[in-house]
Amino acid sequence: MNIKELNTQLNSLFEHFNTSDELLQSICELLRTEVAHYDWVGFYFKNGAKEELILGPYSGAPTDHTIIPFGKGICGQVAVSNENFIVPDVSAQDNYIACSITVKSEIVIPIFKAGENIGQIDIDSHTLNAFTDSDVQLLEGICKRLSSIL
Ligand code: SME
Repeated sequence: MNIKELNTQLNSLFEHFNTSDELLQSICELLRTEVAHYDWVGFYFKNGAKEELILGPYSGAPTDHTIIPFGKGICGQVAVSNENFIVPDVSAQDNYIACSITVKSEIVIPIFKAGENIGQIDIDSHTLNAFTDSDVQLLEGICKRLSSIL
């Protein structure tokens, strides 16, 4: 599926959803099945008042990492830095939480609501150096649209 078709499908999901969890789940499924280099797609959110992330809807292999303390791993670092984090080669990262040895690269994009970092989309790839500016644009667009829904 090319990016135009993908955006059409995304528009349709944003126009016809019942609950925000259902929308998030559909986004995960769409991205993982239609983007060749996306092998695990999931959302993490700030867990209430706690300084930790809790796993939300995802598509791909189940992960043990359903709770991630702020500062730990790529996800926990994004919770603190408020910045996108692209990891071309996860084996070169010290502060990294491995979900599977098949994962080679990762991208995490924060979701902001009223200026506050409320969560993130996390994508793993089995391909080294899988992510480019096109992924950043696509995922930032999704995160911006989500901020008015969440
Ligand atoms: N690799 C992530 C942990 C989450 S899994 O990718 C699903 C990290 O280092 O934060």
